[in-house]
Amino acid sequence: MPRTPMIAPSLLSADFARLAEEARRVADADWLHFDVMDAHFVPNLTFGLPVMQAVQAVSPVPLDCHLMIEAPERWAPDYAEAGARNVTVHAEACTDPRAVARDIRAAGALAGLALKPGTPLEDHLDVLPDFDTLLVMTVEPGFGGQEFMAEVLPKVRRARELVDTGHLTVLVEVDGGINADTIEAAAAAGADVFVAGSAVYGAEDPSRAIAGLRAQAAAALVG
Ligand code: DX5
Ligand code: ZN
Repeated sequence: MPRTPMIAPSLLSADFARLAEEARRVADADWLHFDVMDAHFVPNLTFGLPVMQAVQAVSPVPLDCHLMIEAPERWAPDYAEAGARNVTVHAEACTDPRAVARDIRAAGALAGLALKPGTPLEDHLDVLPDFDTLLVMTVEPGFGGQEFMAEVLPKVRRARELVDTGHLTVLVEVDGGINADTIEAAAAAGADVFVAGSAVYGAEDPSRAIAGLRAQAAAALVG
């Protein structure tokens, strides 16, 4: 079965003074990526649940919430209840990832597990059957506009292999430094979902940027 790449522009690179308009500018996307940062888990602070609810109310595409926060179990179900399509928590921040996944799913969203570049996939394979998406960070979480870390690609390849051999059923998502120069390598390694912040919102025409990234990923997809 050919896989269809999904493009998820990150609102982190949008104009925060005009979020509704910025959400509507990417109506051609598959998901709208929403980066929640708490200034503790990562050295940056963005937006939280009330802003997510406001964006959710006007967004033409489903929200993909990436929680870069400590104690995600406290907040993750609220994002699901607010209508997010996918809610991702960091493996490094969870004490009981299975319980968080259960709560996210019970609240009606897909559950995602994120791994920082240095976090081995093998350390978390036991909990992944409880998740729907696996977010492989291709930069250190915290900021947009960083350079893609090609050294993380073997982790994407390994995840793809586990999915293709029936050992896991997750969408493999990559986040960080995805642009026209890097998306083909990420797609060839086996990613399904491509988060792109600066490559979409930094473009003159975000909708053209999305179409371009999607076409590149589709051409490079394996399997
Ligand atoms: C970084 C965030 C990313 C960020 C990606 O911590 O998780 O989602 O928005 O931005 P770019 O695509 O510019 O690297
Ligand atoms: Zn993100």
